[in-house]
Amino acid sequence: MRRIEIFDTTLRDGEQSPGVALNADEKLQIAHQLAKLGVNVLEAGFPIASPGDFEGVRRIAQEVRNVSVAALARANAKDIECAWQALSDGASPRIHTFIATSPIHMLHKLQKSPDEVLEQAIEAVRLAKSKVDNIEFSAEDASRSDVDFLGKVFSGVIKAGATVLNIPDTVGYSTPEEFAAFIRAVMQRTSGIEKVKVSVHCHNDLGLAVANSLAAVGVGVHQLECTVNGIGERAGNAALEELVMALRTRRDQYSVETDIVTTEIARTSQLVSRLTGMVIQHNKAIVGKNAFAHESGIHQDGVLKERSTYEIMSQSVIGMDVESIVLGKHSGRHAVHQRMTELGLDLAEDHFEDVFARFKQLADRKREVTTADLFSLAEVQKEKADQILLDYLQVSSGTHMVPTATIGLMYQGQRLEDAACGDGPVDAAFKAIDKVLGTKGTLSHYSLQALDGGEDAQGEVAVTVKFGDNLVGGRGVSTDIIEASVRGYLQAVNRAFVRGWITIREKNAS
Ligand code: KIV
Ligand code: ZN
Repeated sequence: MRRIEIFDTTLRDGEQSPGVALNADEKLQIAHQLAKLGVNVLEAGFPIASPGDFEGVRRIAQEVRNVSVAALARANAKDIECAWQALSDGASPRIHTFIATSPIHMLHKLQKSPDEVLEQAIEAVRLAKSKVDNIEFSAEDASRSDVDFLGKVFSGVIKAGATVLNIPDTVGYSTPEEFAAFIRAVMQRTSGIEKVKVSVHCHNDLGLAVANSLAAVGVGVHQLECTVNGIGERAGNAALEELVMALRTRRDQYSVETDIVTTEIARTSQLVSRLTGMVIQHNKAIVGKNAFAHESGIHQDGVLKERSTYEIMSQSVIGMDVESIVLGKHSGRHAVHQRMTELGLDLAEDHFEDVFARFKQLADRKREVTTADLFSLAEVQKEKADQILLDYLQVSSGTHMVPTATIGLMYQGQRLEDAACGDGPVDAAFKAIDKVLGTKGTLSHYSLQALDGGEDAQGEVAVTVKFGDNLVGGRGVSTDIIEASVRGYLQAVNRAFVRGWITIREKNAS
């Protein structure tokens, strides 16, 4: 059966989702999981975009060796040099360069003639080729481009050394039949097409990203670009898990295979959701909480008699745990270690000791420590760089009172404390932190999700905070959602502090 490659762009296009700001450690964690999932190419970022992006790509290229790592670059020398600098230690690097080819983009955005765009594309690919053999060229807004012009650009970049040609539906405008016919027409007009791989990259503005990508499979493309949970610019990108499970479940229709280890899908989806703070809608196909839930009596009866009556795939295929295995405060080191190993969480000894200590603290506050808690304990590593620590938190709020928070923080061995009022207890607590430290953060994203469904579930809060012009993310987990929020905000503060984006006003020490 024909094999189709999965190009994951969760860490590049997915990270462009409004409000998402991953740091290099978080990107690396996701990259390792994507490698476990079996993606063929992992787009790690857009190095010229920011020093943080550069660092993320550099570390992923250095540390994730069993997957081809790509970095994005506009079709100019500065971007390409920067992408190559970030990638050059990689085992199998790919430079992904792009320029827009549609009349609307060339005229209004680039303000260049088609001939100038053609020349710039060829020059860019030539330069990239002087660095590395594996070159992907994308024609941005391809689906709204003139098919003859696109054929000319593609023929030119193949001659210059491109090895993969990507046809993006950048604004999610295409429909499946139209997209398939367009790809066929472009391929017919491209000389040398048989020497390269053809890829598609679909956005979801009309909810058609997966359908358009699957239509492209039908006309013989070699690579699908997608993101975990479909995150990405605006309405997002084609969802990896939906593509993979459609190709697998309807193999009879598509006759292609991927290298994806489907049992890693649920874990990858949850990790991406937690680290980005982008909550998965309950009815999301494949990975939503309700994707395998049967509510109506007729359906339940059918499933109990024979699962295939209402289930077209089994949740075990995507690695969703049927029962959450329960550990509690009486569980010992051995049981916790064994369960973590079964879950594929192979922790180094000192990391396990740290996780186990936090497991015990959690088990004291919560009746059951579930699989989701174990993943969170393993993921949420205490940042070694943290210099500002939570000492105590006290909040008061209610229906007829002004929400107030008092915060004590430890910094350089001194306790700093202050109080503030706010619109609600979380707002009051964030304002109190800013007051204590003399900082001014603006919250641009806040999300709260329960780690699992139980009534004593831990809450996980993800925040994105703007300090000056810099966006930084933070996460906190606790059985108390105000505390989780404060821990998330403090993580963002610590990260901004380490990067020199904020200074701490020395005052108020007790
Ligand atoms: O949507 C798009 O066109 C892109 C390109 C850079 C591939 O993300
Ligand atoms: Zn895109």
